[in-house]
Amino acid sequence: MVKKIWMSGAIIFIGVWFLCSCERQNTTLTNKIHVGVAYYNQSDTFLNEMVACFREKLDSLKDKGYDITMTIRSASGSQRTQDDQVKELIDAGCNVLCVNLVDRTDPSEIIDIAKENDVPVIFFNREPVEEDIMQWDKLYYVGADARQSGVMQGELAVAIIKTNNMIDRNKDGKIQYVVLEGEQGHQDAIIRTESAVDTLKNNGVELEKISYGIANWSRAQAQNRMVQIISKYQNKIELVLANNDDMALGAIDAYKKLNFTETDFPVFFGIDGTDAGLAAVLDKTLSGTVYNDKEGQAAAMAKLAIRAASKDETKDDKYVYLPYSKVTVDNASDFLDKPNTSYN
Ligand code: BGC
Ligand code: CA
Repeated sequence: MVKKIWMSGAIIFIGVWFLCSCERQNTTLTNKIHVGVAYYNQSDTFLNEMVACFREKLDSLKDKGYDITMTIRSASGSQRTQDDQVKELIDAGCNVLCVNLVDRTDPSEIIDIAKENDVPVIFFNREPVEEDIMQWDKLYYVGADARQSGVMQGELAVAIIKTNNMIDRNKDGKIQYVVLEGEQGHQDAIIRTESAVDTLKNNGVELEKISYGIANWSRAQAQNRMVQIISKYQNKIELVLANNDDMALGAIDAYKKLNFTETDFPVFFGIDGTDAGLAAVLDKTLSGTVYNDKEGQAAAMAKLAIRAASKDETKDDKYVYLPYSKVTVDNASDFLDKPNTSYN
């Protein structure tokens, strides 16, 4: 009798041990996730912050039992370089790719090689055309709606113009403005400008466009361009709408460089809520910005990447757009310490 009990106990023990070890083997098999990240340029402030955020997100998932590794490459603005980097990432064993294209109209090499090797691709921030995304069911896009960011920037400007009559400095009833634009052909450049300007007009603000500059998202280029514009128009400019924070900060740099007194500064608006952008909103040099939710985008990418790499059968949407939020001096500090978006 005692022997019998002992025997069955041993059998149960062996059975449980066997089951556990099978499960362990299974988890290590399906949980091995090697993410290859390729982004267009290491000198882009928003992308650097976003990729850092994505890395943190993936690191935090290691605690949840995922075996994740990540390899990052940046392409210095060359699509050819990026195509080669993607090949290297696949050769190195990446089983999912996150790609921020250099040329968003030219993803075909990347799609072909990914397809050949059955490696899913999550494009982010620089949106390929729909036709390309539809080429294969393992292609995704994570980003945000450009129009919404422009509308919000316009609304922030309307609110300040309507409550502060010092902005129309020459008191002609019109707001003389300059736009600083991102790269031509980028979905966030032209659409942000158009929707910000339309929002101001639709809200009854009379506008007069003084000039514009294409500064390719860059603070230094925006400063140079703005120095030229100021030299021509002096203190006529009352509003600067920039397609991103770095260019708004570059415009402020230009006024400082030319030793303008702050009372002759126009009001400046950006988009992104980068660390430097939020700091400038808090010290009131930047009147407002629109938060480009890198934490939300990173969480969405992590979720898709894990599912795609572990060949989870769940059918995910091919497109994920995270909403923007308006940022003023009243709420900027909430965004500065924004925690990572939780994974579910
Ligand atoms: C951001 C810019 C960034 C660009 C790069 C935009 O969504 O607002 O700051 O330079 O993406 O693709
Ligand atoms: Ca005016």
